[in-house]
Amino acid sequence: MALERTFSIVKPDAVAKNFIGSIYQRFESAGLKIVASKMVHLSREQAEGFYAEHSERPFFAALVEFMTSGPIMVQVLEGENAVLANREIMGATNPADAARGTLRADYANSIDENAVHGSDALASAEREIAYFFTAEEICPRTR
Ligand code: TYD
Ligand code: MG
Repeated sequence: MALERTFSIVKPDAVAKNFIGSIYQRFESAGLKIVASKMVHLSREQAEGFYAEHSERPFFAALVEFMTSGPIMVQVLEGENAVLANREIMGATNPADAARGTLRADYANSIDENAVHGSDALASAEREIAYFFTAEEICPRTR
């Protein structure tokens, strides 16, 4: 087993619906520890930069519009195999395909407004954590 950190977002739709606590509960129940967390309202430039890998996709403009439509929670989750563990908690990108009991099945309405983001690999986790947090903002657990 490997102790990992992954990057997570509670997206504008889920914040607007008051699901922050419910979603954090799922992380904690699964043994993932929140080691950094803050609320931010992304600028267009921040959202475009974060999702740069999707800049040529047909949904890019709508994705940036959505991600800037209201505040989000950004957090770093730490735990055993945290990257994959978080992806499993989240469920499939399209909530219609998401397994029962996953965040997207329970809290998302559509593929374009799907409640949560989670890093898809260790390398992207490192890049995404650094996009939002300085080293001083991440608090390793000593107990
Ligand atoms: P992607 O990285 O493929 O999914 P995931 O969030 O599961 O890693 O896509 C990033 C986001 O782009 C996705 O969460 C929602 C949006 N998106 C759409 O709006 N339409 C689409 O067809 C796809 C594939 C993604
Ligand atoms: Mg992705």
